[in-house]
Amino acid sequence: MSAQNQIRRKTVRDIAKAKGGEPLVCLTAYDATVAHILDPHCDILLVGDSVGMVVHGLPSTVGVTIEMMILHGQAVMRGASQAFVVVDMPFGSYETNADQAFLNAARIMQETGCQAVKIESGAYAATQIRHMVERGIPVMGHVGLRPQATNVDGGFRAKGRTDEEWTRAIEEAVAADEAGAFAIVVEGVAPDLADKITATVSCPTIGIGASANCDGQILVTNDMLGMTDWVPKFVKKNADLKTEIETAAKLYAEEVKSRAFPGAAQTYKLRKTAKS
Ligand code: KIV
Repeated sequence: MSAQNQIRRKTVRDIAKAKGGEPLVCLTAYDATVAHILDPHCDILLVGDSVGMVVHGLPSTVGVTIEMMILHGQAVMRGASQAFVVVDMPFGSYETNADQAFLNAARIMQETGCQAVKIESGAYAATQIRHMVERGIPVMGHVGLRPQATNVDGGFRAKGRTDEEWTRAIEEAVAADEAGAFAIVVEGVAPDLADKITATVSCPTIGIGASANCDGQILVTNDMLGMTDWVPKFVKKNADLKTEIETAAKLYAEEVKSRAFPGAAQTYKLRKTAKS
């Protein structure tokens, strides 16, 4: 393929330009096959640390490691050619100080080739964001319901019930924005709080369980495809892959047991030749 025919991968400038315009389409991806299918439809593919729960069966994202994120980030980069790929920094890999954040983010970017990292950004994280951005690492923030902080919150609880929750979410978003985040995920907040954040910050907001007025939307792909029994209220299942997979597996089991599989179409027709 000539350089002219190559598909151009989206850049951080394309994402930043979306503020106030057509909503950004974002989904999570964890492997090359699914990334390849989603790629033409998405502005951003997030290798979310939700991989720990939906792929590895962990009870929360707290047990996810940098090595897991790198492995899945590499796979997604092999499958996607035009989407802007962001890899989540897992719990414990960026909170200590700016140097820890930069060194781990640099490793993730070097080993995966991704375009940016995401951190769950409490107000304290402005220092880390500024430090990374100044050193060449685009950073996406994440405010509101922060899955890595659910042990402090006592579970996955939507935010926006009290003045204090409003103030904190807005302060976190402003801190990330002023520190140079190129976009901010706003998760699990009241729609009017999400709208206030979108109107306040200069970078695009990406909503999940937030508001249709955000500058983009993201969902965990496995939830959107209906692969799991339970999904949060904010998920709209656009497919029922769990039933599809169950039906296909049941048919396979029946045909193996009855010896209907493999049939003539699935077996080789080879003629034996005389030895030379
Ligand atoms: O890990 C993840 O999938 C995320 C999205 C839910 C935004 O952070």
